[in-house]
Amino acid sequence: MAQRPSAPEELRRWSDVDAFIGAMVQVTDADLEAALADSRAAGLPEIQVSPLQGKFLHLLARLRGARRILELGTLGGYSTLWLARALPPDGHLVSLELSPEHARVARANLARAGMGGRAEIRIGPALEGLERLRSETVAPFDLVFIDADKPRYPEYLERVLGLTRPGSAIVVDNVARRGDILEEASPDPNVQGVRRMYEMIARDRRLSATALQTVGVKGHDGFLLAVVLEGP
Ligand code: SAH
Ligand code: DHB
Ligand code: MG
Repeated sequence: MAQRPSAPEELRRWSDVDAFIGAMVQVTDADLEAALADSRAAGLPEIQVSPLQGKFLHLLARLRGARRILELGTLGGYSTLWLARALPPDGHLVSLELSPEHARVARANLARAGMGGRAEIRIGPALEGLERLRSETVAPFDLVFIDADKPRYPEYLERVLGLTRPGSAIVVDNVARRGDILEEASPDPNVQGVRRMYEMIARDRRLSATALQTVGVKGHDGFLLAVVLEGP
C-alpha cells in the first residue's frame, strides 16, 4: 500500500528547501544525474533516497571509515552510488536486489561512475542473499543500509546483526511513513513491518538506536540509525 501523499503545499515547501540546501552543499554531479535519468528512462519507480539523504549516507559511511558496506534494496543504484563513493579504492559493497531489471540498471549506473569494481549487485530475495553471506562467513560489514521490502524489516535486522560487529552502523529507510507507524491496527504490511522492527529494537540489547523524522522531496518519513554494541 502506498503512503498517502503529503498536502501539496507542504510538499512544495519541503521540496523547495531540499533544493535550496542541495544547491549549497553539492549533492549532484553528472554520474548521479545520469543514474537518475537512466532509472527513470527504464521505468523504475522514483523512490530512491533524496539527494540530501544520499549524501547523508555517504558522509555516515565516511565517518564510520567503512571498508565494507551492505545494502538491502538497490533499485537503480542511486543510494548504492553514494555509498560506494565513500569507500576506499579497495573497499567493497554488496547490494541485494530482487529485480533483475533493477539490478541491470544499477550495474550500468555504477559502471558509468567507475564504481563497478567495488560495488557488487546480487540478484534475488534479500533473505536468501543474507543467508548466502552468512554461509560465506564474509568479514563483518561496517555499515548496512536496509531499504528493501518493509514487511521483512524485522527479519532483515535480525540477520544483519549476524553480519556486523560492535561499532557497525545500521541505517534503515522509511521508518516514519508519514506517521502511519502510529496505527497499531494498520492493515498496511509495510507499516506492520516497521512497527515490528521497532518492537524488536525496543527489546534488543545488541543495538543502540535512534531515528530522525525527515521532510523533503519524499514527503514525511524517517531514517533510523543503530550502532551495534559490544556483547555482554
Ligand atoms: N536503496 C534504493 C531504493 C530501494 S527501493 C535507493 O535509495 O536508491 C526498494 C528496492 O527493494 C526495490 O528495487 C525492490 O525491487 C527491492 N526489493 C523488494 N523486495 C525485495 C526483496 N525481497 N529482496 C531484495 N530486494 C527487494
Ligand atoms: C517508497 C519509498 C521508499 O524510500 C522505499 O524504499 C519504498 C517505497 C514509497 O514512497 O512508496
Ligand atoms: Mg526507501
